Amino acid sequence: MSDLAIFPLSDEHKMIQTAARDFAQNEIAPIAAKFDESGEFPRETIKKMGAMGFMGIEVPDEYGGAGMDTLAYVLALEEIARADASHAVIMSVNNSLYCHGLLKFGTEEQKRKFLPPIASGKAIGAYSLTEPMSGSDAGTMKSRATRDGDFYVLNGRKSWVTSGPVAEYMVIFMMTDPEKKQKGVSAFLLEVNTPGVTRGKKEPKMGIRASATSEMIFENVRIPAANRLGAEGEGFKIAMTVLDAGRIGIASQALGIAEAAYEAARVYAGERIAFGQPIGAFQGTGFKLADMKTRIEAARLLIYNAALSKERAKTSGGRYSEEAAMAKLFASETAMFVTHQSLQIHGGIGYSKELPVERYFRDAKITEIYEGTSEIQRLVISRQELGLK
Ligand code: CAA
Repeated sequence: MSDLAIFPLSDEHKMIQTAARDFAQNEIAPIAAKFDESGEFPRETIKKMGAMGFMGIEVPDEYGGAGMDTLAYVLALEEIARADASHAVIMSVNNSLYCHGLLKFGTEEQKRKFLPPIASGKAIGAYSLTEPMSGSDAGTMKSRATRDGDFYVLNGRKSWVTSGPVAEYMVIFMMTDPEKKQKGVSAFLLEVNTPGVTRGKKEPKMGIRASATSEMIFENVRIPAANRLGAEGEGFKIAMTVLDAGRIGIASQALGIAEAAYEAARVYAGERIAFGQPIGAFQGTGFKLADMKTRIEAARLLIYNAALSKERAKTSGGRYSEEAAMAKLFASETAMFVTHQSLQIHGGIGYSKELPVERYFRDAKITEIYEGTSEIQRLVISRQELGLK
């Protein structure tokens, strides 16, 4: 099910959903295992996704995007993730962590220069916040940006940058005034080919192996002061605002993984015979499928609600941090639950690389970690509920 009684989809939404589903099943699903195995970045399919408008769905046409809304974005992302979680995270970072921040906080000049290559999918965008000793506690970063006339000079080391090995453009966060802690962080737009920028070691990951992740090293990197995104000291709030959008993307990625794993289990439970009947006819398996399906549909409702809250915030200017955190928390834990149950239903063949079920299981785990762990999502939700922030 992908059209819910309380969320009837418009013709436009159905159109992008169908286009993404057809593309994902015809072009991505057949190559997903090969790219998972080799860890190669799927540049060709990403380029095609760009041509279809999937790499900048909410970016207005004038800046090279598809000019659609957040619901369109989550519908398309879910379909891509059903075929391959690696393609989905590359798409999510491009759309949410790069384009969204630039659209919301960029000047007209910055948008005209830095959006079109990324929103059209001709180049890859990334977001660089985390450092080796600054993950969940993001306000403790050590990297420095020092003003020097009309330039900033960047020094430091960033880690876990999704698309780091391949990205041409990045939104990065550095301390401009360390004494002010979070209020001393600023955001910058970086052309990665600037002298002094080095891509560090590529992470050998358990899952989403076709998505490339690396450290980034900055040694006396001079960038124009005009590349600062927002005001000096506004960087932490920009990082958090952008992550609210990003978390809706990761929730949709988790939903897509869960759906793929569920569908494989449902079909297998109908076909596999044991003790004289399909294993789905045993209540032990049937009840597993019931729980998997119910959690998937609940995750979908939370994601669509977060997407509509974000859409509303575009005009009201309000926050949707709690809605995004609830969607990511529930969808990622659903992806772990569903992929675990799907593998169990499949038994030995689920543990084999002959089926994609073990890949779904490995891919699901990261959704509970990046863009804020499940513990951070619980912190965000509980603080909002208790009126602490
Ligand atoms: N929107 C707007 N402002 C926000 C905000 C949001 N979502 N969250 C916090 N702020 C503001 C607060 O209002 C506060 O402002 P004032 O000082 O003016 O009141 C300021 O930011 C500081 O907020 P907190 O005091 O809440 O900050 P904190 O240090 O307690 O941290 C946190 C809060 C929620 C734990 C935050 O640090 C956090 O989200 N950590 C997780 C970081 C994360 O998700 N990292 C993933 C990196 S990206 C990635 O995964 C890689 C990739 O490429 C995919």
